[in-house]
Amino acid sequence: MKPALTLLDRTLHLARYPQRKNETLQAWDAADEYLINHSHDMVLDPQRPILIFNDSFGALSCWFAEKGPVTSVSDSYIAQQGCRQNLAANALPDVTQFDCLAELPANPQLVLIKLPKNNRLLTWQLQQLCHLVPDDCIIIGAGKAKEIHTSTLKLCEKYLGETKTSLAVKKARLVFIKADKTLAKPMPAPKTWDVPEHGLTLTNHANVFSGESLDIGGRFLLEHIPQNPSLNNIIDLGCGNGVISLKAAQLNPQAKITSVDESYMAVASCQENAKLNLDNPEQIHAIVNNCLDGLEADWADLVLCNPPFHQQNAITDHIAWQMFCDAQQVLRPRGQLIVIGNRQLGYDEKMKRIFGNVKKIAQNSKFIIYLSGK
Ligand SMILES: C[S@@+](CC[C@H](N)C(=O)[O-])C[C@H]1O[C@@H](n2cnc3c(N)ncnc32)[C@H](O)[C@@H]1O
Repeated sequence: MKPALTLLDRTLHLARYPQRKNETLQAWDAADEYLINHSHDMVLDPQRPILIFNDSFGALSCWFAEKGPVTSVSDSYIAQQGCRQNLAANALPDVTQFDCLAELPANPQLVLIKLPKNNRLLTWQLQQLCHLVPDDCIIIGAGKAKEIHTSTLKLCEKYLGETKTSLAVKKARLVFIKADKTLAKPMPAPKTWDVPEHGLTLTNHANVFSGESLDIGGRFLLEHIPQNPSLNNIIDLGCGNGVISLKAAQLNPQAKITSVDESYMAVASCQENAKLNLDNPEQIHAIVNNCLDGLEADWADLVLCNPPFHQQNAITDHIAWQMFCDAQQVLRPRGQLIVIGNRQLGYDEKMKRIFGNVKKIAQNSKFIIYLSGK
């Protein structure tokens, strides 16, 4: 791993979050470097906000922290923690951190957007900006050249204004957007759809996993959630819109469900879905967290988990590993972890290593559901 970002005679020490021994992935990318190189000699007003969207682990926030009042906007709790950690490691002042549903500071002078892969989130952010930015605001998007499609540029044109692109440097590209206030539209409502076979209505903010239809893995897991009056505390780890939590709550009305996700929009959707679908919405307590960090040990009866297989843009199994280790900690003796995964992901090996036992409880052509007991 490259330990530090050195650019323009300045060095920043940047790590991903959570920090891992033998990390092979960098905490910034070529698009960050391109944005920094392009913007470094801009004359900035020390009073007017600089908005940074979707900063992966705080590289951009660190770079700009001393140049003006920075507000970093991200849907990711992990990205926010990474940003905090890197600001502290470089002895830089704190920046304001907002989630994507928060009201943004008025009158920004500069907006830097790491273009998200999710077009619904991009559209949401472009629409927010169209309402917000003054005429003189400079807006620059950035991303991997191969991920900036014609459709990405069309969204920028449609929801914010005239859009031009730069040449590619180190396979990254910049996107320059001139805001046109006449394009401002009311913010879109969350997407809502029904899962009639389970009697559920699901509402989904823009960045929620599988926010336009039910995930096929989630659909299979729904059919295998235990119903047992002795279950008092159930955790839905990586809850997304809360579909698994809702079903667990319906089947086990005596149980308290703790739903955890690192996406603020997921947790907000899960909370809204509890109100939409349950007579007692208090049955679900949804929280933003990195896996089960900081939760007490030995209290949960059951952990249900449909793990993610990427962090930011990197495909990785370390989050699944952390989720299973954390589940082992918070489960009471004889508590159970139920995991769904694609056949080739090999979650059973991990569960066997952590719990000393694993069995298959269901499978179809794509997925297997495993159970380990503590
Ligand atoms: C495969 S989705 C499952 C969503 C939902 N449970 C379902 O079955 O449709 C995995 C979820 O894990 C969340 N996630 C990713 N990394 C996480 C982390 N470190 N801590 C908590 N949640 C995380 C993602 O935001 C995503 O919502």
